[in-house]
Amino acid sequence: MKQKVLLTRVYPDKGIQILKEAGYEVTERTDDRPFEQDELIAEAQKHDILFCTLSDKIDKHVIQQCSHLEHIAQFAVGYDNIDVEEATKQGIPVSYTPGAMTEATADVAFGLMIAASRKMFFQHKNILSGNWKTFSPTADLGIELKNKTLGIFGLGRIGMAMAERCKGAYNMDIIYYSRSAKPEAEQKLGARKVDFDTLLQESDVISLHTALTPETKGVFDKRAFEKMKSTALFINTARGAVHNEKDLTEALKAGLIWGAGLDVTDPEPMSPDSPLLQMKNVAVLPHIGSGTIEARTKMSEMAARNIISYFDNGEIPFAVKPEVLK
Ligand code: DGY
Repeated sequence: MKQKVLLTRVYPDKGIQILKEAGYEVTERTDDRPFEQDELIAEAQKHDILFCTLSDKIDKHVIQQCSHLEHIAQFAVGYDNIDVEEATKQGIPVSYTPGAMTEATADVAFGLMIAASRKMFFQHKNILSGNWKTFSPTADLGIELKNKTLGIFGLGRIGMAMAERCKGAYNMDIIYYSRSAKPEAEQKLGARKVDFDTLLQESDVISLHTALTPETKGVFDKRAFEKMKSTALFINTARGAVHNEKDLTEALKAGLIWGAGLDVTDPEPMSPDSPLLQMKNVAVLPHIGSGTIEARTKMSEMAARNIISYFDNGEIPFAVKPEVLK
């Protein structure tokens, strides 16, 4: 029997089957809830490998208590729930699943943009509450997206897929803020790299596609919203903590920006009492960006293959820090 793998949640079957066929001993969950920290430590101590996701807080304490782990395989492209620095210090490789959820997440960003621009979630609630009385020529009008400017914050795979959708559907001008230039986006979509203030000032829609890091945490705060157009839409399908949720709420209330579409919030889960849920121009989803059968199946397969490849030949196809393998 090979190493023991702890699955921290109920995951799509594909990866589990791949691991079992490769001879790994797999511990599956039946209740689909995140472990409490002490449970996670106690369970991880009985296993060699963690197959985990963003709802698992794998912080310094957990890693120090589980320094025997041989691999942490993250089922997600984001890994801000893991103290990768500490894992690396302990010689534990961390893998992830980039690319698997590109189309699924871009669809959610695109959908939220349209939903917020036409107040769709609010209009849906109107029907449910019996407030659809008649056709109204003037009530609760939305805004159109054709020929507007899309500002992408973090132009990686998902940002590119969102930009392609916006260019194709609405002929939007694309500007982006990113650490490095993206020649493919510039050639294919005529995208233009700009500084952060220009992104804020020129965009009609700002869509976030960045990792959560110390540099991006809270970047969209009061000062940023103040620089945006009062007609602008703010879309976040990346991580909730990239925006300051109190400042976002205030900015929407004060009319500093026009609307927002969020698939991620801070904290998660969002409280059902959040004022954002009562706002007409806001559409919120419960972090379902990668939630398609195709994407989640692929993520599960990639996580399993990251594990198997490491133990078969010492290589990880998608390692967060490949240098830990040397
Ligand atoms: C990811 O992969 O990081 C996503 O947020 C999960 O949907």
